[in-house]
Amino acid sequence: MKKYRLQDLALHNGTPVRQTFLPFGAPQIGEQEINEVVDTLRSGWIGTGVKTHRFEQQFAQYVGAKYAVAVNSCTAGLHLSLLVLNIGPGDEVITTLLTFAATANVIEHVGATPIFVDIDPLSLNINPQNIAAAITERTKAIIPVHFGGLSCEMDAIQSIAHQHNLTVIEDAAHAIGTQYKGQYVGSISHLTNFSFYPNKNMTTIEGGMITTDNEEWDDLLRVYRLHGLNRDAWKRFNTKRLTISNATVAGYKYNMTDVQASLGLHQLSKLEQFLAIREQYAQIFDQAFAGMRGVRLQPRPIVDQNRHALHLYVLILELEQFSASRNEIIDALLAENIGAALHYRALHTHPFYKNKYGFQPQDFPIAYRIGESILSLPLSPSMSEGDVQDVLEGVHKVLEAYYC
Ligand SMILES: Cc1ncc(COP(=O)(O)O)c(C=O)c1O
Repeated sequence: MKKYRLQDLALHNGTPVRQTFLPFGAPQIGEQEINEVVDTLRSGWIGTGVKTHRFEQQFAQYVGAKYAVAVNSCTAGLHLSLLVLNIGPGDEVITTLLTFAATANVIEHVGATPIFVDIDPLSLNINPQNIAAAITERTKAIIPVHFGGLSCEMDAIQSIAHQHNLTVIEDAAHAIGTQYKGQYVGSISHLTNFSFYPNKNMTTIEGGMITTDNEEWDDLLRVYRLHGLNRDAWKRFNTKRLTISNATVAGYKYNMTDVQASLGLHQLSKLEQFLAIREQYAQIFDQAFAGMRGVRLQPRPIVDQNRHALHLYVLILELEQFSASRNEIIDALLAENIGAALHYRALHTHPFYKNKYGFQPQDFPIAYRIGESILSLPLSPSMSEGDVQDVLEGVHKVLEAYYC
């Protein structure tokens, strides 16, 4: 590989490694999705209806859950999960710091208190030992996040939950297709929430799915997602008789539409193909980055019963090896037209949580250190092998230029 210096960087007016911008997680939308959306638009029924119902059934079958409830985002799903458990003021919910704000925001929305615990420095997931140490008589639930698509240690988390009579609500926004000991995420815990945001492993543009084996929660989630009415819109309108629906709780407007489900049905049927491409590209990244100076990778399980769904491919930088900060390194990659991204700065450093709870960065040293030194590389089935080579070249160029 070529030797690069600072003046070669596009950030310093050098020539970028590619001429067009490579986005971080561009979706792969095919003709089937487009035709299905058009079919729905022409059908006269574009709201929540038969396609949403079919998508729910197929999703439940894919992950091996009894029930799946489609919603308009993973955030909505997490919110409803807390509501059906009756979690509110005075309650505590334990969660991780290396996550998107939504994971903790929903705990605030119901008036409960998020109890953050530090992560494991290797897996980047919540450390079960820290969960055990944080339990009080107010603790009601645990929200583990499968960071990047690598499963948390679910046996340990389930056993703590069981011992203390807590509910586990998985934030599986990154984990569509993740397996833990041969089981798909979505079939393991009391409630699991997925995201179909555009850059996720499959997309409905915006959308989410809650899976559970509990019939009572399934019923309640359906009521809560549509104004608290005890009949779904589709059931209400798809009959020639007057149906009387009663508001049984003050519910929300969190339903998914059939236009979104039209995308979801085909994205789901292609998911295993998408995952195979992610795996193929991640292996190319692994070969290039394993052993690279100043870089550490999130481990990928080699046991075939545990599958990393590879929503994120992250580099953890040993910052003392570089003359630039992580933010400058991301900026330099962006200037090279490589859509690197940041997932995530630890939540306790965000102004809302820092100010509300008076956190100092070093209160959670591992999440803080990782949050200041991590970056995500573009990885998506819409990328070509040439795009993958551009990412390798861009990372090589930028790191080489900034080595101390
Ligand atoms: C870990 C995590 N949780 C929750 C969410 C929220 O997902 P949505 O945008 O579908 O509400 C995201 C979105 O990126 C996420 O990464």
